[in-house]
Amino acid sequence: MVIAPDFDSRPIISFQSVWKRYANGTEALKDVSLAVPEGDFIFLVGPSGAGKSTMVRLLIREEKPTRGRILVDGINLGPLPRRKLPHFRRKVGLVFQDFKLLPRLTVYENVAFALRVLGESRDAIERLVGDALETVGLANKGAKYPRELSGGEQQRVAIARALVPGPRLIVADEPTGNLDPATAWEIMQLFLRINASGSTVVMATHNREIVDLLRRRVVAIEDGRIVRDDRSGTYHEDLATSALRA
Ligand SMILES: Nc1ncnc2c1ncn2[C@@H]1O[C@H](COP(=O)(O)OP(=O)(O)OP(=O)(O)O)[C@@H](O)[C@H]1O
Ligand SMILES: [Mg+2]
Repeated sequence: MVIAPDFDSRPIISFQSVWKRYANGTEALKDVSLAVPEGDFIFLVGPSGAGKSTMVRLLIREEKPTRGRILVDGINLGPLPRRKLPHFRRKVGLVFQDFKLLPRLTVYENVAFALRVLGESRDAIERLVGDALETVGLANKGAKYPRELSGGEQQRVAIARALVPGPRLIVADEPTGNLDPATAWEIMQLFLRINASGSTVVMATHNREIVDLLRRRVVAIEDGRIVRDDRSGTYHEDLATSALRA
């Protein structure tokens, strides 16, 4: 039997006319609409202060939209009650620029932490953490502490931690911002592999070289608005493409 691809399947992320005003009055997002199909890999680019991290914070429900709707995997995040947050957060893996590892816990315990909170069994934790460390190439570093690792290795631990609950969506805010170019490239390869295995990846980045090399979907934000959304985009607007549009 041939199963036709489901082109109409619901997007894993949907921003519908989203506005975000912070308490101090800053309008960080203005009428942002975006649909991300499952399996996509998208770069969020734009100048400092454009609203990229705000989009990330809304996506993980660290902030709520002032107006409009945000759906992640069919869940409407605005009215989502607090008690449903842990279940929701399990669907989303997070990676930050500064790794955010717990310094007093070993690599293994950093990755296992979320699973312990979720009440997984010892056996399941051992298996899942082992798999995640294997995926990021750190199977033999479980007993180390974050301070004993290089920046690239610490980011790998953070990625293992993001992957371990089996999220369908990975959201990364400048994950290569603190890394040298070669290490950044290795980390990016890891995200590509994760995406190839089926997870959707949304990444805010200033890394022009990587964006230009990979030619993935690029969503550009300026002053709180989406100004460009290219299927196979570059960091800056491609002048040839914009000439064609004109
Ligand atoms: N908690 C906050 N309270 C008030 N204003 C905020 C808050 N967080 C961000 N902003 C403002 O919202 C706007 C968007 O900020 P955001 O952090 O989303 O930008 P960004 O695109 O991630 O920038 P960068 O590339 O520097 O990380 C900026 O004007 C910023 O000053
Ligand atoms: Mg930011």
